[in-house]
Amino acid sequence: MQENGHQRVSLVTCTAPVNIAVIKYWGKRDEDLILPVNASLSVTLHQDQLKTTTTVACSRSFQRDRIWLNGREEDISHPRLQSCLQEIRRLARKRRSAGDHSPDISSMSHKLHVCSVNNFPTAAGLASSAAGYACLVYALARLFGVEGELSSIARQGSGSACRSLYGGFVQWNLGERPDGTDSLAEQVAPESSWPELRVLILVVSAEQKSVGSTSGMHTSVETSQLLKHRADAVVPGRMEQMRRAIRQRDFQTFGELTMKDSNQFHAVCLDTYPPIFYLNHVSQQIITLVHHYNQHHGETKVAYTFDAGPNAVIYTLQEHLPEFLQLLRLVFPSEVPEEEFVRGLPVSPAELSEELTRDIKIKPSPQGIRYIISTKAGPGPCEVEGPDFHLLGYDGLPK
Ligand code: DP6
Repeated sequence: MQENGHQRVSLVTCTAPVNIAVIKYWGKRDEDLILPVNASLSVTLHQDQLKTTTTVACSRSFQRDRIWLNGREEDISHPRLQSCLQEIRRLARKRRSAGDHSPDISSMSHKLHVCSVNNFPTAAGLASSAAGYACLVYALARLFGVEGELSSIARQGSGSACRSLYGGFVQWNLGERPDGTDSLAEQVAPESSWPELRVLILVVSAEQKSVGSTSGMHTSVETSQLLKHRADAVVPGRMEQMRRAIRQRDFQTFGELTMKDSNQFHAVCLDTYPPIFYLNHVSQQIITLVHHYNQHHGETKVAYTFDAGPNAVIYTLQEHLPEFLQLLRLVFPSEVPEEEFVRGLPVSPAELSEELTRDIKIKPSPQGIRYIISTKAGPGPCEVEGPDFHLLGYDGLPK
């Protein structure tokens, strides 16, 4: 934390990662507390490629709470933002009543300014709320000097945000208690446990805005019988198998379960009434391509997963990456310069064998993929030190 002597403005800046579920969260049993109908499991992506940065500031001189998101002032009265602010202040008060009277704790009664930016385009259609809420909660905890369980607070901003509080492989436990105190995130394995695992985000051209997760899953809970079956009979077993696959670095099982779970989530969307379609023609081509590729090799070398939109996230092992990327270039030829088409971690070039190109029976879709982000699993949130990193100045306004 840094303070300016004159105005006594306390500033903290933190960053937090995006996560992509391999066992999907879809459906709430409690919409206010954001308690899920099933457990879920995700991979935290590396912040070098995708992250949210948030500066939080508090001062006696601030008149009211304010928030700026990606350069625009937004309404801080949003109920989910308010839940997170209230919960963090409650934690801080608890610490004060336990006898802690440090200055950072007493500053919690001051008004707050929050400024947050993503290092990836919002237009990419990647869920940014998970990284955003995780970053907000983590930064506020640092500002007030509170420690302890933060995932249950981030969860009340956006369900998937609770998983962004940890690095590597993370599960969000279903929990049993009505107050949600046991519906928390925990790390299954650190990112260092599976360094060969690589991730490609295929940003697909989307013509229309899709149904948001919150309203989509609400309708699914109301109308889909498949959702109930999934939550009761399918996910508990898959969580167990997925944890084992991750700990044993068993890509066959990891990949197969990831694809099946994505498919079941989209089947639930189709079983919702009226149905929800997140996948488009290019998404379907990517699915077919992955299956043809795996069939050609006689094993699961690559896996796809899709969230509430047409973008694909590909999981694979480092050794298969060059060949699969070359195949993507063949099926989705692009006029975008190479350095803009594939961003992030470099991938070495590869030649495709004649047999492989023959076995891939897909008609090319030029411009089907806008660009690709190449990344891997990464660590959880962290504080960044030094005044240069702050997004707010000592006047409490965006720089
Ligand atoms: C398809 O966490 O965005 O990405 O809790 O209503 O904010 P709310 O929903 P959100 O839903 C994410 C859904 C998903 C699957 C997942 O990330 O597990």
